[in-house]
Amino acid sequence: MCGIIGYIGKKDAIPLVLNGLKNLEYRGYDSAGIGAIVNGELIVKKDVGKIDEVFSKINISSIGSNITIGHTRWATHGKVTKENAHPHTDCKNEIAIVHNGIIENYQELKKELISKGHVLKSETDSEIIAHLIEEEMKQRNFEDAFKKAIEKLKGSYAIVAINKNEKEMMGARKESPLVVGVSEDGYFIASDVPSFLDETKRVIYLYDGDVVVINNEIKIFNKGVEVKREIDSIEWDAEQAKKGVFKHFMLKEISEQAEVVKKAIMQDEKIIKEIVNAIKNAKGVYFVGCGTAYHACLEGSYIFSKVAKTHVNVCYAHEFPNYVHFLTPESLVIAISQSGETADTLAAIRAAKEKGAKVMSIVNVAGSTLVRESDKVLLQHAGPEICVLSTKSYTSQLTILVMLAYALVDKLDEAKSKLKELIRYIYYLTSKNTQEYIKKLAEKLKDARDIYLIGRDLQYPTALEAALKIKEVSYIHAEGFAGGELKHGNIALIEKGTPCIIFTSKENEEGIIANASELKARGAYVIGVGPRNSEVFDFFIKVRGAEEANSIVQIIPIQILAYQLAILRGLDPDRPRNLAKSVTVK
Ligand code: M6R
Repeated sequence: MCGIIGYIGKKDAIPLVLNGLKNLEYRGYDSAGIGAIVNGELIVKKDVGKIDEVFSKINISSIGSNITIGHTRWATHGKVTKENAHPHTDCKNEIAIVHNGIIENYQELKKELISKGHVLKSETDSEIIAHLIEEEMKQRNFEDAFKKAIEKLKGSYAIVAINKNEKEMMGARKESPLVVGVSEDGYFIASDVPSFLDETKRVIYLYDGDVVVINNEIKIFNKGVEVKREIDSIEWDAEQAKKGVFKHFMLKEISEQAEVVKKAIMQDEKIIKEIVNAIKNAKGVYFVGCGTAYHACLEGSYIFSKVAKTHVNVCYAHEFPNYVHFLTPESLVIAISQSGETADTLAAIRAAKEKGAKVMSIVNVAGSTLVRESDKVLLQHAGPEICVLSTKSYTSQLTILVMLAYALVDKLDEAKSKLKELIRYIYYLTSKNTQEYIKKLAEKLKDARDIYLIGRDLQYPTALEAALKIKEVSYIHAEGFAGGELKHGNIALIEKGTPCIIFTSKENEEGIIANASELKARGAYVIGVGPRNSEVFDFFIKVRGAEEANSIVQIIPIQILAYQLAILRGLDPDRPRNLAKSVTVK
């Protein structure tokens, strides 16, 4: 959940690390810090706050360094304080480390270190890593001490470490992402590629258990043995990971959806066919994911049922352990994830693999752990999604699911032409005109205490996803319901003026308009989203019918509404409180 970066090379390291941290801020923004080796001294600067706030208070522009590490924190162990911010150092302030993950055995290691005379300054699990290295260095050099220290850790980690007496940088990863950027003049070790895209597009994806040692050269070890890892080239360019003319990444990414759907359609048909065959031959297919990706899974199960009469089980990745007893080597698990690094999703596929099941996935980030650990992968090609909220990755996942469903009944070309027809319409849905229109609704809803979102059939997952978008960025309580569930309890919540957003479609108009009328009769302020207006609606957002692809177009106005609500409430849509983009801890 935190962002880490280190640079070692000929260039001035501090500006590179600060720029890298800004590009990683989506991973956490409670506090930030850097550790730099300057003329043989270790300088650590850190504080509470977002990166700009922290570094505007600290004058570092005049410091020159060739080895620097940096960290942007999303707190897990220990409060948000300066002491708990990274980097953490050893007793002598010679070693500095940055860490992302959770060290499960830190209490026991901490006790041991204290008994050996170490003095710890923070409440974090991370600090012990610096002291462990210090302890090991009593008997061995920095590189070997780092490796020994890593062997003692249980849990998940991505770590970068430096030592003021060495022209070296160490990195290690287990269940937390870590990549190496290879540039003309040096190396980066970081949580994610956008951190160094301004400098290089050449990357080495580290594997679980890898330890990387960089000095004059780079060496990678796994289980004590030196290993070779390929240098890959990133297809994204630095501009794609910047806001450009947009004020926020959220709006930029919402606005990119026409292009993103276009790219999702251009899938390798051979892989689609292979996945379709695997689905046909499997005895039990499971879709797993978390958050928005889970909503894509749920929507996918409806689409598969409707288009291909194919049943799939849908499960939150973190609840998947309840299903593993049913898995056999003939089962197929399809994981959906933007980042490909969500710890719960990775745990689910690993559990499936243990049972011999096949794992296939729909992922946006190439080179991610999920990509590496899957038997087959459909890459979304949606470009970097920086905003904490998933927007374009959702519509892209839905596009792929529609194609898979049609491919199951040998109608892939039909799906492609249907989806292509939607592209121009998505441009319209994300246009300034639509944004202005939805702003009027946002002004009416900005002080609402609760917003309810209701859909039936294919529109039910849309209602769940719409509620997630509103709540995570505007902090207004929002809940999605299935229309049929209203009278089983939820309608008790409706008071005079309660905003209710109703997703309609030609196929379920009768049932959902009946729900809207029941809500209206209890005083609700009823907002319709769909192809046809109704007298029951107080506000109407027209979205043309798109059958199984309805969910792709209907979510867009609500993504815009969520964005507008955040702006009107004075919130930063790219950095919602308590959240981080990649949930790499369980
Ligand atoms: O990277 P993933 O798609 O696996 O992430 C899953 C969820 O953490 C993610 O969708 C999260 O719910 C977002 N905040 C939704 O906007």
